[in-house]
Amino acid sequence: MQMILQVRYSDIEKGLSEEQLGTLRKTGVLIVKGGVPKEEALAWKQSIQDYIAANQDKVTGKRSHFDGVLVSNHASYPGSPLPPSTIVFYELYNTKAQVLARTHPALIATQKYLLSLWHTSDPNSLISLRTPVSYFDRLRIRPPGPSVFTLGPHIDGGSIERWEDPAFRACFEHILEGGEAWRKFDPFDVSPRLAANQDLYNASNQCSIFRPWQGWTALSNTGPGEGTLRVLPMLSLTTAYLILRPFFRLRSDFAAGATKPSDIPLDADAWVLDLDNPTFPGSQPGKTQAVTAQTHPHLRVEKSVMSIPRVEPGDQVYWHTDVVHAVESDHTGKGDSSVLYIPAVPLTERNAAYLRDQRATFLQGLPSPDFPGGEGESRFVGRCSLEDIASPDGRRVLGFEPFGEKTFLNDGEREVIAAANEILGF
Ligand SMILES: [Fe+2]
Repeated sequence: MQMILQVRYSDIEKGLSEEQLGTLRKTGVLIVKGGVPKEEALAWKQSIQDYIAANQDKVTGKRSHFDGVLVSNHASYPGSPLPPSTIVFYELYNTKAQVLARTHPALIATQKYLLSLWHTSDPNSLISLRTPVSYFDRLRIRPPGPSVFTLGPHIDGGSIERWEDPAFRACFEHILEGGEAWRKFDPFDVSPRLAANQDLYNASNQCSIFRPWQGWTALSNTGPGEGTLRVLPMLSLTTAYLILRPFFRLRSDFAAGATKPSDIPLDADAWVLDLDNPTFPGSQPGKTQAVTAQTHPHLRVEKSVMSIPRVEPGDQVYWHTDVVHAVESDHTGKGDSSVLYIPAVPLTERNAAYLRDQRATFLQGLPSPDFPGGEGESRFVGRCSLEDIASPDGRRVLGFEPFGEKTFLNDGEREVIAAANEILGF
């Protein structure tokens, strides 16, 4: 089995094969090649570079994950802005290229398809899984060179909340039943996710909306070792282990000798059930869930977290919200390693309210609502305006056209589309 599924955009258009779907449901990771022509993606990058040059006295960003608030909604770190020449992560949301990418027909169609792979176990769930909406995130243009940041294996969308929040915990109820019941866990059932609170501690820079697929679109030809994404492509297995991990511990007679990860014995005999242990390995309130060789030894992250295959400009990469992922610390390639962070997000009531607020920040050239404020790009030359987006589908994912389904998949979809149109003022 191919661990990281790569398909052509034409495969998305005609629908993936059962075999491909089987792989995707197991691994939770997908690369879609060829939906956006390479030349178009490279032109996007050039236009971003021109925009940065034209506004260089005002551009802000961060050199690394640890410099400040950054990286596609990861947890925040204190820091200060840097000179434009050293920026890797740009505080840019409203460039023409980003908005053109977010509204590109191939991205919309791919996201529609990927969202439809989720399902509702409750027909009254207030969600439309065939209606993608746009989520404005930032972008990365990372030059080659020595390591500027390290982003170890983690899962976004809260940490301790997976156990602490009753609704979030309910998403994993089969796993928590014990025994063989974990096999009934369905990572693509959207219904219990809608009520989950992934942010009990008001973590700054958290993604506040429901985002079933994280993702980015490549603006460069980037292979393993060139600062790309790393993933652990075993969705249900990893989730089952992660959720049960707080309830077992290393036997005390082994614990003393296990000072480094390679010393930790993995045999079942070396571990005991401990339901009273108050420790939740890798979970820190207000941070993403860390997954390390120390905290989750049986996942063997040093071996199982792998770099994704080479991508070309225009390729889209998506990973399920529960997938453990990391970013390569080194970039030993020759060219830049550049992406636009663009996830696949469905229409829900909460996402519609976010879309309404994001529509306003877009028109004003401000950072989108989840991100650090300030004047953003409001005084920048050449930022995107609504007139740049011609297609009705494109304007709809941005919240400028009503959602107009005439027939509905279920009652929940009917209700959420009506509610969303009202929230957006249509
Ligand atoms: Fe992440």
